Amino acid sequence: MKYYIRTFGCQMNIYDSQKMAGILKNLGYEPAEDWKDADVILVNTCSVREKPDQKVLSALGEFKKVKKDNPNAIIGVCGCLAQRAGYEILQKAPFIDMVFGTTNIHHLPKLLEEAKSGNKAVEIIEEIDQGEVELDKYPTVRENEYTAYVTIIRGCDKACTYCIVPYTRGKERSRRIGEILQEVQFLVEDGVKEIHLIGQNVTAYGKDLGDVKFWELLYAVANVKGVERIRFTTGHPRDLDESIIKAMADIPQVCEALHLPIQAGSDKILSAMDRGYTQKEYLKKIELLKKYIPNIALSTDIIVGFPGETYQDYLQTVKVIKEVEYDQVFAFKYSPRPGTPAADLDITENPEIVSKRLSELINIQKDISLKKNLQYEGKIVEVLVEEDKGNGELVGRTRTNKLVHLIGRNNLLGRLIDVKISQANRFSLVGEIIE
Ligand code: 5AD
Ligand code: SF4
Repeated sequence: MKYYIRTFGCQMNIYDSQKMAGILKNLGYEPAEDWKDADVILVNTCSVREKPDQKVLSALGEFKKVKKDNPNAIIGVCGCLAQRAGYEILQKAPFIDMVFGTTNIHHLPKLLEEAKSGNKAVEIIEEIDQGEVELDKYPTVRENEYTAYVTIIRGCDKACTYCIVPYTRGKERSRRIGEILQEVQFLVEDGVKEIHLIGQNVTAYGKDLGDVKFWELLYAVANVKGVERIRFTTGHPRDLDESIIKAMADIPQVCEALHLPIQAGSDKILSAMDRGYTQKEYLKKIELLKKYIPNIALSTDIIVGFPGETYQDYLQTVKVIKEVEYDQVFAFKYSPRPGTPAADLDITENPEIVSKRLSELINIQKDISLKKNLQYEGKIVEVLVEEDKGNGELVGRTRTNKLVHLIGRNNLLGRLIDVKISQANRFSLVGEIIE
């Protein structure tokens, strides 16, 4: 029996898919190289913008064909779109056998049994399933042997007016620190070198537990023997305080890289988004980060064309991008999400103008990204070797999260090595191993 999982969306969904693979493996399933060979196909969906919504429906249209040769094959839909609009998907794609929400994943074995017996297996509950922590006992099936995600907090208590996440993933629930450390220990014993702590808002970790803070968790993870690198995604500018920044600077394993979404540069738009900070306050945090961690690589998310955004507002976003000099910017066109407060606001700008601004912004950032990468030429950096491409070609990452291509021996896999950067491109670096 074989399974195939298609994942859309963010790090949380990737992790959930790795857990579902773990569950299926426990049930005796093997991964299928091609969806056409699978007995179970799972589509783990995202709902953050309209585009991913559409991609899911077209993927389902394709996967439907699996039933031609294998009428008993099971197709399941889960994740954020399933949580928000599971019944709608079922109507649009009635050939689906299973639909379940973001907090019901641990019920996959039961749902699969039900679907196999010919029933539609549907479980989408609005309140958070108290039993969701059961998922923690399953192993993840990772593609990368040396780096691993670890969920530390689920859900989000912020109420950004454009965002669907609070509706698809619920209130913040931090995992107990002992359980996190146990998972980290297990991963390190399995050969993992880099631990990537994930959550919709990791910097809020511990608020609901009351007795532990995110920076304390960073120290605790660093104390697990064998942890060589630590990353975390995503932090919120409002919760990122000086004690976190100090811990980042102080803990040798915490990498010099941070994704800190700003969303917009204009105070008027930030307020309409209910982000809880002004441009000045955000830039203060960036200044502090650069002070404590001078070589930090920064990245951000931007939304262009939020209701009410004028050209002057947009120019404030451009100003921030030029001033901060991010290594990477992920920019999106605003997409109204049903049920969110912003969905009731009138779209004020012509979509063509918004597209033009988006591409202008991406072009500005392209030059900045290249400039940042060029600073690496001639420098020696630490690289974790993650992949062997064959023919002696290896791929790894710097602590600042830059891809590095190099020539070397495959027994370097999983090792931290010193590399001299010989060439910088916009999206990656080329280097030579220093013996
Ligand atoms: N429209 C466009 N982009 C959005 N994002 C979240 N919600 C929306 C929306 N409604 C972006 C934000 C977030 C990233 C994951 O997706 O920039 O940080
Ligand atoms: Fe998409 Fe947000 Fe869900 Fe992640 S949490 S999968 S980004 S909707």
